[in-house]
Amino acid sequence: MNLKDKVVVITGGSRGLGRSMAELFIKEGATVVVSSKDKILLDTTAKEIKAYAIKADVTKEKDIQKLVDKTIKKFGRIDIWINNAGIFITHDFLENFESEKVKNVLLVNTFGTFLGCKFALKQMKMQKEKGVILNVISTSALAGRPKSSMYSASKWAVVGLTKAIQMENADSGVKILSVYPGGMKTKLFGVKKPADFDTYMEQDYVAEKVIANLKLENPEPELIIRRPNA
Ligand SMILES: NC(=O)c1ccc[n+]([C@@H]2O[C@H](COP(=O)([O-])OP(=O)(O)OC[C@H]3O[C@@H](n4cnc5c(N)ncnc54)[C@H](OP(=O)(O)O)[C@@H]3O)[C@@H](O)[C@H]2O)c1
Repeated sequence: MNLKDKVVVITGGSRGLGRSMAELFIKEGATVVVSSKDKILLDTTAKEIKAYAIKADVTKEKDIQKLVDKTIKKFGRIDIWINNAGIFITHDFLENFESEKVKNVLLVNTFGTFLGCKFALKQMKMQKEKGVILNVISTSALAGRPKSSMYSASKWAVVGLTKAIQMENADSGVKILSVYPGGMKTKLFGVKKPADFDTYMEQDYVAEKVIANLKLENPEPELIIRRPNA
């Protein structure tokens, strides 16, 4: 796909992988809407990279509806929608996880992706030029990992969702893609970083691979990006 002049919406676009992808889309000549909760960081990022900022919490239906409506009002269509917003739950044995933290990781990573897919699909199906939805999953959804039960569960659920809507939309004209990145050196982990954090990938490296895939005529629908020496 030629990315020039495409209208791209990226949830969780204020930092990390979302920001890196936004910058690369802009380099390709796309118009990018970045979205997240922290308005100050979001506005700063948008200004720095020349994107358009719309504050939205992916767990709130009204926010996601507004994100679509405002994008359509300003740019007329959505060509690429990336469900990238995500949170982590610090590694531990399952019996030690606090229920509220577990609910939140499922709410943001799983329900947030559902909402993004729902409103992007509704919009894209109404458009003449349909579009592409890309779900950012994780290699944590390819194998079970000790102490990562509930982050993994939140992402494994997105695998099921993604595979189902790929089939539902086989003839709708909307393309459903997914990416499974391995560890990246982002702020996802907060202060309690995993022990091997230093070996994780740079977010720009992963973003480059995502954009290169999208530029192909037939992008890989389930792109796995592992650490080069993992
Ligand atoms: N880092 C890794 O090792 C790794 C590996 C595999 C997959 N991933 C996935 O890659 C994606 C990007 O993560 P990252 O590593 O770039 O993390 P990050 O640097 O922490 O960025 C996360 C982004 O999501 C936003 N966000 C969090 N909760 C949100 C909510 N409720 N509504 C809207 N936006 C929200 C954050 O901004 P606000 O907090 O201001 O809203 C931020 O913009 C996530 O889905 C993550 O699970 C990461």
